[in-house]
Amino acid sequence: MKIMITGGTGQLGSELIRQLRSGRSVLGPVPAEYAGAEILAPGRAALDIGDGPAAENFLREAAPDLVFHCACMTNVDGCEDVPEQAMALNGEAVAAVARACEAVGAKLVFISTDYVFNGEKRSPYREDEPCAPRTVYGRAKLLGEQNALELCSRTIVVRTAWLYGFHGKNFVKTILRKAREGGPLQVVDDQFGNPTNAEDLAWHLLRLAATERFGVYHCTGKGVCSWFEFAQEIVRAAGLDCPVRPCSSAEYPQKAKRPAYSALSHEALAAAVGDEMRPWREALRDYIKRLEDEI
Ligand SMILES: NC(=O)c1ccc[n+]([C@@H]2O[C@H](COP(=O)([O-])OP(=O)(O)OC[C@H]3O[C@@H](n4cnc5c(N)ncnc54)[C@H](OP(=O)(O)O)[C@@H]3O)[C@@H](O)[C@H]2O)c1
Repeated sequence: MKIMITGGTGQLGSELIRQLRSGRSVLGPVPAEYAGAEILAPGRAALDIGDGPAAENFLREAAPDLVFHCACMTNVDGCEDVPEQAMALNGEAVAAVARACEAVGAKLVFISTDYVFNGEKRSPYREDEPCAPRTVYGRAKLLGEQNALELCSRTIVVRTAWLYGFHGKNFVKTILRKAREGGPLQVVDDQFGNPTNAEDLAWHLLRLAATERFGVYHCTGKGVCSWFEFAQEIVRAAGLDCPVRPCSSAEYPQKAKRPAYSALSHEALAAAVGDEMRPWREALRDYIKRLEDEI
């Protein structure tokens, strides 16, 4: 089997590569069908996914059996500054990837976001609920989803959220660094979602991609919290003594207007692979315990 991963230097892509190479994750072995798979992880210099025609040619020539399309402009505020570039990279160019996957008969796993929802609900969003993104990033990713589903008949769209992995920057590492500097920290307490460990996500993606159950899935840590509660738990789990105080989004204005509530429910994942992801607190504690060894 030939597996291609875009965004292999990112939080999720690097974790997928690691689990495929080692054959396991902290949660268990990866499905046996991946044993001995050839892994292609072209970097940005070899494959600029914003260049649709080049990406399409690259994929047609490589002819993988399975593609994890993780590459993305993930800076949510940055996308507001360059909306055309963000729409092109995260949305329009996905059409080229999907067309090539269809042509070579590959399965396509496209990673999307909780920010496709408007955040007006107060209970977790199901996979089939209407999308109404509020940010350029969310609009671009929704376009990417639509292109992937429309142009490749073997597409699995996976929406995730509030991701932290061993590679690269993320909220957990930022809070740990600031807490070690002594704080106090002020963190918004009026945006709710699901913290998600990239290691857990990668393992579930590998299990999902081993099925023939195409469609839209939500894969996030189990349980809902605010960024403030997330930060409190990070500080607690690391055994740090640093005050964490709640504030409102109005006190911490950001360029992109994020949804106030974007927690996701996981019915489709549970139906496809038999379980949901771990409770977010458990996954976070595990990550913090191993962070120093893994980076
Ligand atoms: N991070 C989150 O909290 C979050 C939340 C919801 C959904 N997601 C989704 O999860 C997926 C993975 O996110 P992540 O946090 O792992 O991302 P990440 O760590 O920010 O990594 C992004 C990856 O995309 C690559 N990339 C960016 N532009 C590229 C281009 N033009 N051509 C080729 N590669 C390019 C980067 O390569 P370089 O190393 O060269 O920059 C990097 O490998 C994304 O699809 C994202 O939308 C993430």
